[in-house]
Amino acid sequence: MNNKITNASINETKILADEISLNIKDGDLILLSGEMGSGKTQFVRFLCESLNTITSVSSPSFLILNQYETKNRFNIFHFDFYRLADARDLEEIGFFEILDSNQGLMVIEWPNNFRSLFSKKKNIIDIYFNFIKDNINLRDIIIKG
Ligand SMILES: Nc1ncnc2c1ncn2[C@@H]1O[C@H](COP(=O)(O)OP(=O)(O)OP(=O)(O)O)[C@@H](O)[C@H]1O
Ligand SMILES: [Mg+2]
Repeated sequence: MNNKITNASINETKILADEISLNIKDGDLILLSGEMGSGKTQFVRFLCESLNTITSVSSPSFLILNQYETKNRFNIFHFDFYRLADARDLEEIGFFEILDSNQGLMVIEWPNNFRSLFSKKKNIIDIYFNFIKDNINLRDIIIKG
């Protein structure tokens, strides 16, 4: 799925989450990049709605990891690396076991300083949220993978 959505409204962000929810498989990794407030967590919220998660979505910035269960599909592991300084801090939250297990859907906000960690991962969907000029409610969204 390689795509660019220009001037995406929040509803188009939701539609994108719906589409991606239909295409992802157990073991996939979604990387979400873009400035603060660009819509990464909002996208995760919509994705979890599309996947019928049982628990609700909050921003994991202070926790690094939030976990959600879906009713009849895989677990979702939602990471936020914004405050992560050292990849070794991921060991205690079981990041590498989750990564290597290829089970569950991993979603990572702010992945860019740690991309080497995912070099062996095959199923990566890379999504970039970009603000556009003069309209706070629209985004350019680039999807690779
Ligand atoms: N077109 C759009 N797509 C996504 N979010 C939008 C859009 N328009 C407005 N928003 C709003 O922008 C905000 C994005 O906040 P969000 O928490 O998702 O940002 P974030 O990228 O996760 O930031 P951070 O890096 O701080 O975690 C939300 O309040 C959302 O409702
Ligand atoms: Mg966020």
